Formats: sequence, structure tokens, C-alpha cells
Amino acid sequence: VKTGVQTLILPAGAAAAEAAAGTLAAGGLVAFPTETVYGLGADATNATAVAHIYSAKGRPAFNPLIAHVADLAAARRIGRFDARALRLAEAFWPGPLTLVVPKTENCPVADLATAGLDTVAIRVPAHPVAQAILRAFGGAVVAPSANISGHVSPTLAAHVESDLAGRIDLIVDGGPVAVGVESTIVGCFETPMLLRPGGLSRERIEAVLGASLARPAVEADSGDSQPLAPGMLASHYAPRTTVRLRARDVAPDEALLAFGPARLPGQDAAAAVMNLSPAADLDEAAANLFGYLRTLDAKSPRAIAVMAIPEEGLGEAINDRLRRAAVAR
Ligand code: TXA
Ligand code: MG
Repeated sequence: VKTGVQTLILPAGAAAAEAAAGTLAAGGLVAFPTETVYGLGADATNATAVAHIYSAKGRPAFNPLIAHVADLAAARRIGRFDARALRLAEAFWPGPLTLVVPKTENCPVADLATAGLDTVAIRVPAHPVAQAILRAFGGAVVAPSANISGHVSPTLAAHVESDLAGRIDLIVDGGPVAVGVESTIVGCFETPMLLRPGGLSRERIEAVLGASLARPAVEADSGDSQPLAPGMLASHYAPRTTVRLRARDVAPDEALLAFGPARLPGQDAAAAVMNLSPAADLDEAAANLFGYLRTLDAKSPRAIAVMAIPEEGLGEAINDRLRRAAVAR
């Protein structure tokens, strides 16, 4: 792992976008905001820079990364879009949707970034700071979430700094992100697959597809067979503290992650209480999820009790991340 790197932190703006583009072109690592979570970017065509992403994050395996580009035209230089993939791209880009499509013949993305697969995951982020950096740089930027591997994804520049300062070259601070969970990943295969629930709801995608999305039969990385979304480690997004799901009461040495207006027995005596959305708005809950997990984790309660969250809209992504956080490690 490369440590002792001088990490520059710049407020978002034209100067930061230029600095980010220069750092990327020189093979450096730049953390920047997207509307979903902060990403840790490198030049997608530079295998050494891509390798530095894995070592900076302490990522255990060369799981494939998402290539970020400024628009659909740039996306079509690296991936092949059939009619269905085009329909999704046109409906939801820029936005919190990643499409896995076959690589183009001369796809410039480094093999390391696609883990040697003949497909590539592509996303056009909507965040103006991400857009400015991608346009200033001019090429594809691969970017996983900007956290130490296995940690909760960063929704503030301060989260990136606490995980990665001294390991990366630049952090562009664009304030808190809007969506708060990672992009939804759709595999544009013969049967379209929901590889990862995320910031765009299944319902909205299915409405455009006119078909329902299948989930991969096996949990994406349970075995050692070639997984469909190889980065979806069963234990991921994990705080240090034990997470207890579907709580119907709370003990005095537990913290409570609440949702909606209901109150649980024991709530007044709990070690800490944060409510993802008192109005039971799932979009607001998604935006608050990772930050609140970090805050409660820092208080070191015996456990974080989490109230049940409906499995609809962004609730599917929230429950997916919470189930992963609850896997014992
Ligand atoms: O919102 C997001 O998607 C954020 C921001 C920074 O854009 N990025 C992100 O990247 O969440 P990461 O590396 O944490 O997740 C990438 C996921 C992994 O689960 C990986 O397995 C999957 O994308 N993936 C990448 N390439 C793939 C491919 N060719 N086929 C299937 N899955 C792929
Ligand atoms: Mg991640």
C-alpha cells in the first residue's frame, strides 16, 4: 500500500476540476462527489493507476470497476449498446444507473479494471462536480466508492479524508451527496438482471423496460464460481458495531437507527437514536443511511438496532446494504 502521500483537499470549482483532470492524466488518484456516493477515480486506461485504486482501498481482489464517462457518446466508445441498453441509457443518464454491456472491439479500459471480463460496467453520473471533472479530463474514469474496502461508503468529503488521507492525491469536496446509496447496476444480458439494487428503483427501470428484472440466482460472491457482480461481497458496507435488523425494541446499551414516525419500546433509554426519515420517505432515508451508520458506529454501542424498512422503491437498496452490514465478520 502506498502511504505517506500528500493528500490535497480542494473545494469544488473550476480550479478543482482542472487540478483533478491533471492529476488523473498523471496517473494519480482523485476522490470526487457523484450524486450517489464519493468515488475514488483513476484514468481507466492506465493499468498502474487502476492498480493503485485497489492498493489504496485495500481491496482484497481485483473486482471490476465502473467506468464513469460524461455522456452516452463517450459510453458508446467503450461499450456496445443494444436497443434495450440504449433505452435505459436515454431514460436514466445522467443518473444513478450503471449498465453492464459487452466491451467494444477496441475498448480502451484497462483489463485490470474489468477483471478480464468481456463486459464493462458504465455510468454517466449526474453530479455537476463529477461532470466537470469528466469533461476536463476527457476520458473514462474508473471509480469505486472512496472508502477503505469493507467500510461504509462515503457521503461526505470528511468520510473520504478519514479513510484515505495519506493514500490518495486529491479530494474534491462538493458537500454532501444527494442519493446516498450506490448506483443500481443492471446487466444488459439476454435476460436483463438487477445485479445490485441502488439509487434508482427497480420499479422505475422495469417501467421503461416493460419487463421485470431478474436477480442473479446465487448471492453474487458466495462461491468461487464466476460471479455476476463479483464485487458484491456478502459482508460489505459494514460498520465495526454489530447490526441487528428488524428491531421491535431497543436495549439501553444499543443505538437505534429508526425509520418513520413509530416509536419502539426502550427508545427513550437507548444509547443513541437517529431517524433515517421521520416522515418515512425512502429517498431521504437512503441519503442519510451511510452517514448515520458512521455516526452511530463512532459511539461504539453494543449493537445498532435497525427498524424494519419497506422493501419498495429505494427501500430495496437500503435493505440490501443493511443486510450486508449485519453479516458477522
Ligand atoms: O454509485 C456508484 O456506483 C459508485 C460511484 C462512485 O459511482 N461506485 C461504486 O463502485 O459503487 P464499486 O466499485 O463499489 O461497485 C462496482 C460494482 C461491483 O459490485 C462490481 O462487481 C460491479 O460493479 N461490476 C463492475 N464491472 C462489472 C462487470 N463487467 N460485470 C458485472 N459487475 C460488474
Ligand atoms: Mg464500494
